[in-house]
Amino acid sequence: MSVAYMTHPLIKHKITLLRKQTTGTNEFRKLIEEIAMLMGYEALADLPTADIEVTTPIEKTVQPVINGKKLAVVPILRAGLGMVNGILALVPSAKVGHIGLYRDPETHLPHEYYCKLPEAIDERQIVVVDPMLATGGSAVAAVDFIKARGGRKIKFMSVIAAPEGVSTLMKAHPDIQLYVGCLDRCLNENAYICPGLGDAGDRIFGTM
Ligand code: PRP
Ligand code: URA
Repeated sequence: MSVAYMTHPLIKHKITLLRKQTTGTNEFRKLIEEIAMLMGYEALADLPTADIEVTTPIEKTVQPVINGKKLAVVPILRAGLGMVNGILALVPSAKVGHIGLYRDPETHLPHEYYCKLPEAIDERQIVVVDPMLATGGSAVAAVDFIKARGGRKIKFMSVIAAPEGVSTLMKAHPDIQLYVGCLDRCLNENAYICPGLGDAGDRIFGTM
């Protein structure tokens, strides 16, 4: 598996603002969406293209357009939903699947409650989005579900990751490409990322 850590100063700046305890729900949502778009720009740099003929006001020319079956964006519910519009801003025709998972507060293990993916998933470039990669349990389970339904070309985007999560996902799914906004120090005793940003789902949706 390849892991790409984001180096763009705009991504770093926005992740710093996201972390602040004083960042409210509205700003948090905007930042998550913007970061997803900036990360998506990097993650989609290898989308296939095909040449088509277009006529400019001057002459006919052959130029590239994005080719192949439409992209599938797959947020892990809930927090991944906050990243979807950032990717759709880049690729408006992408299909959107959903995987519902929540971490048990005691065991920290993921539990599935929903999975619906676009048709012909085996032919699509899939981008799984979830702001937090902590133990890696949710990410591994989500990729397991996608593969069990035929998905093959999988990229995974997380805004903040713990070393434990990266290592677990790498071991379980060495064939996927992982994009990480920022690699944090460690997990605490409740399996929260340190320094992290707290509970991403609660901060996006204003719940507690
Ligand atoms: C968060 C986060 C990831 C998961 C990461 O979701 O959005 O899905 O935890 O933790 P892990 O790597 O240890 O599995 P959570 O389960 O809190 O659900 P929510 O998005 O509905 O708040
Ligand atoms: N889920 C979150 O939302 N935040 C963490 O730090 C870990 C898991």
